[in-house]
Amino acid sequence: MSRKKIIIGLFGFGCVGKGLWDILQQRARQDVEIRKICVKVQGKNREFPEALLTYNPDDILDDPEINLVVELIDDASQAFFIVNRAFEKGKSVVSANKKMIAENFVTLLELHQKKGVSFLYEAACCASIPIIRNLEEYYDNDMLELFEGIVNGSTNYILTRMNQDGVSFDYALREAQVQGFAETNPALDVEGYDSKYKLTILMAHAFGITVNPDSVFNFGIHRLGTGVIRYAREKGYKIKLIARSMKLDGDEFIAYVMPQFIKSDNNLFHVDGVYNGVITETFFSDRQFFVGRGAGAFPTASAVLSDISAISYDYRYEYKKLTGTHPVLTNSFTVEVLISCGSVDCLDASDFNEIAEEYHAKDFHFIAGEIDFRKLTGSAWIAERDVSVVLLPSARGKPA
Ligand code: HSE
Repeated sequence: MSRKKIIIGLFGFGCVGKGLWDILQQRARQDVEIRKICVKVQGKNREFPEALLTYNPDDILDDPEINLVVELIDDASQAFFIVNRAFEKGKSVVSANKKMIAENFVTLLELHQKKGVSFLYEAACCASIPIIRNLEEYYDNDMLELFEGIVNGSTNYILTRMNQDGVSFDYALREAQVQGFAETNPALDVEGYDSKYKLTILMAHAFGITVNPDSVFNFGIHRLGTGVIRYAREKGYKIKLIARSMKLDGDEFIAYVMPQFIKSDNNLFHVDGVYNGVITETFFSDRQFFVGRGAGAFPTASAVLSDISAISYDYRYEYKKLTGTHPVLTNSFTVEVLISCGSVDCLDASDFNEIAEEYHAKDFHFIAGEIDFRKLTGSAWIAERDVSVVLLPSARGKPA
């Protein structure tokens, strides 16, 4: 197979951009050259030659010798602008910006296909786990029925530190920030938005569903109180933030991000710290399980480098599942959840179809049972500051 030389214009020199630079210093490659690095903040001391530095995006976008834009900046709107311009100039793009990709999925798909360039973003979902390429290449038989997993490293790190080491939420979040796992706005991690962006990208490659992230429900780990954490510990469960999409019935699929109690016989129970884990289920092969580091400079940069290599032989996602059948997303299903609150007024037993367990103490109340998903997501109480929602261990979703 012949490979072309890749001449890169790199946008961003934060955690992942610097990680990519460091990897290429340690493992120099004849076929990959970083020609320019465009950054926003002036005057910082950066560890690359001055000649590569620019503050002007046009120095990359207008350079005809640069055949690949690697976009690793934080700001999703600015990233979208850069990626659009790169496509217009006929350049391929590698990006790790899950928010930008999820929010503009169809537009980006049409633009890069129209220009006949490659657009790869393995690093945007689960960092070091090669999940997109597996969904694209291996699960190409329309038999994939479910994928679920831990797709955010920061929240898994926080939950692990709270559970195993008894540290506070704020302390564990600070550690995740210091280690470069968390988003600049950590609410994206802890409230489940980052997981949702990844989930919607994966849904396109897994099932051929393109959906605006706004139409997928996310509930994070930011409201888990000591009562729920104690409940999990007493039962021998761990709490993990789970992103799930699965076939419900016929062409109908469901998708959501929520914390879930996980039992020790579930593979995800053993996925701790910054690791991510993804389970797939297919009609004929039953379950598969992928695990790997889900955040951090080197694991993410390593996925970026893998995409860069793939560009050298003109690899493109084919989005095979976007053609043919048209699966639809439905919110018409039921789930089993534990809803807890500091005051009894937040809970309404009549919202549940069935109650499995109920508990009331001075400042910790919960009801566990089956609820209609639309009632859960449309309720007024879900917005209350101390209400938390956790899926029961075997809950996935059943037709309403
Ligand atoms: N903040 C993200 C995470 C970074 O913690 O998973 C990797 O996408």
